[in-house]
Amino acid sequence: MVDFLGQDVLSTKSLSKSEIEKVMTTAEGFLPYANKEKTTEILKGKLMASLFYEPSTRTKLSFESAMQRLGGRVVSVVGIESSSLAKGETLSDTAKVVETYADVIAVRHSQPGAPREMADAVDIPVLNAGDGAGEHPTQALLDLFTIQNERGKIDGLTIALVGDLKYGRTVHSLAYLLAHYDVNLILVSPDQLKMPAEVTNDLAEKGVVFSETEDFEESLKQADVCYMTRIQKERFADPAEYDRFKDVYILTKELVEQSNPEMTIMHPLPRVGEISLNVDELPGAAYFRQMRNGVAVRMALLSLVLGASL
Ligand code: NCD
Repeated sequence: MVDFLGQDVLSTKSLSKSEIEKVMTTAEGFLPYANKEKTTEILKGKLMASLFYEPSTRTKLSFESAMQRLGGRVVSVVGIESSSLAKGETLSDTAKVVETYADVIAVRHSQPGAPREMADAVDIPVLNAGDGAGEHPTQALLDLFTIQNERGKIDGLTIALVGDLKYGRTVHSLAYLLAHYDVNLILVSPDQLKMPAEVTNDLAEKGVVFSETEDFEESLKQADVCYMTRIQKERFADPAEYDRFKDVYILTKELVEQSNPEMTIMHPLPRVGEISLNVDELPGAAYFRQMRNGVAVRMALLSLVLGASL
């Protein structure tokens, strides 16, 4: 029996397959609520603290929409400069303060491990909304949910993860999830931006078939799903390094049509040039549907950790 009550969601590495499937089936049930067809108040009286110390549009708004559409309420902090962290308060002290007001914390921070530091200091659940170049578990769960919904299955698929696999946190978390399935992973990146060994070791341990390559066009011919990512400008110490890589892989409509017109195209967004605008016209362009799934998946997680059900 899977029990999320009171649990933190900090990494996807520690999730079991039954926990992953529990989130997916729960999210399915929340779709009509996320899509504004039905309303519910199952989290009435509960308060979520939304702490976003790094820029965000989608993740912040979808967490907050999810909480409010479940009948809960939200208090928020945006940016380090407007919080006591700027005065030198530690993450654990901040977490203890927030715990006195809120029932659950969603936190984004530039430092990998920051959500865990907060979680260790408090008893209420902490949800990692992105920690630097570390992980982004809720995004990866909505990515997996999207693959399932777009393709009707996960097992048997060839999935290309493309771009900045070193600093891109969504692909770290997604790879840990995909390691539970019978998939063929193609990790496409420049050599300097390869998937960290910590992640590839996990894939190898779990017996996942994967390959690492710089050859984007060849990979596209094999892929059922192409998951594009942005080169993570904010993680580069040297701007010249970023400039070297920023346009390394660009998915165009022509490229999709030549290689595999049936391909599902995903991106956690924001895109900054790596998917041409005319790709949006293709039936396989799933990135806006993917974004929409974020609310249902976050509703599922919030309801599970707070012990409420429909
Ligand atoms: C991603 C992130 O913040 O890691 N965005 C998101 O949450 N949808 C991807 C990115 O910023 O490139």
